[in-house]
Amino acid sequence: MTDVIDGNAVAADIREGVTECVDVLEDSGVRPGLATVLMSDDPASETYVSMKQRDCEEVGIEGIHVDVDNDAPAQELYDTIESLNDDDAVHGVLVQKPFVDQVDERRVLRTIDPVKDVDAFHPENVGRLVAGDPLFKPCTPHGIQRLLAAADVDPEGKEAVVVGRSDIVGKPMANMLFGRDEGGNATTTVCHSRTADLAEHTRRADIVVAAAGVPEFITGDMLSEGAVVVDVGINRVERNGESTLVGDVAFESAKEKASAITPVPGGVGPMTRAMLLYNTVKAAGLEAD
Ligand code: GUN
Repeated sequence: MTDVIDGNAVAADIREGVTECVDVLEDSGVRPGLATVLMSDDPASETYVSMKQRDCEEVGIEGIHVDVDNDAPAQELYDTIESLNDDDAVHGVLVQKPFVDQVDERRVLRTIDPVKDVDAFHPENVGRLVAGDPLFKPCTPHGIQRLLAAADVDPEGKEAVVVGRSDIVGKPMANMLFGRDEGGNATTTVCHSRTADLAEHTRRADIVVAAAGVPEFITGDMLSEGAVVVDVGINRVERNGESTLVGDVAFESAKEKASAITPVPGGVGPMTRAMLLYNTVKAAGLEAD
């Protein structure tokens, strides 16, 4: 039987630990605060930010939201970040991606104070992760590490293949999978859009992390028997005249081969959101279980 890994259940456990941390912090007079900043009229980004705010409310984190007009000069966004950096009630600052054209993405990421950088996108935090001394781990790969642990999958000594080389998922995921810490120590290959024979790599893998951003890209015939499959994709597609959500993995055919697989929705997505809350209480001074 294939284990369909329940991301909602694992995320609920993480949120419980976060709630306990919030209570302890409040007893010592600290209310953890997360500021979300949105400079975009993309409806998907608006939805993501409001979900993050709702998550904060649920665990007792103070959610602060700042909208910056998407026609405003980029300086307004940089100034907003600076003022949140200076605000003692704000422990975490998250600027929702993707950014509008007039904004310099690298400057945004550099402007967020590294100690409030709960996304872990600041070059200092990227460097610390690569050096094996992370302050924050980026939410999606960290959530995947937790999902694998919850499914009793220890990557040590295994062949892991990461499909996708994004700054948010592919690169940090690979670093964490081959890193020396718990949840790492896998022999790790990173594949991407220019990989000559993707299936040759994925068929060798004990663990496949699909983060290519292509709907149902990884099919069952590309997997070895018993592989553990983690699907990071969230793609909206039209099916039989209806809009539906699919991952980067063709779930039904992959499930035939996999020993464990994450569904979409209900797999990696809820973990990303939970790890943001985890990083926020960490920024406020406590690490949840
Ligand atoms: N847009 C899509 N994913 C993310 C994320 O993890 N963090 C931020 N800030 N924006 C995103």
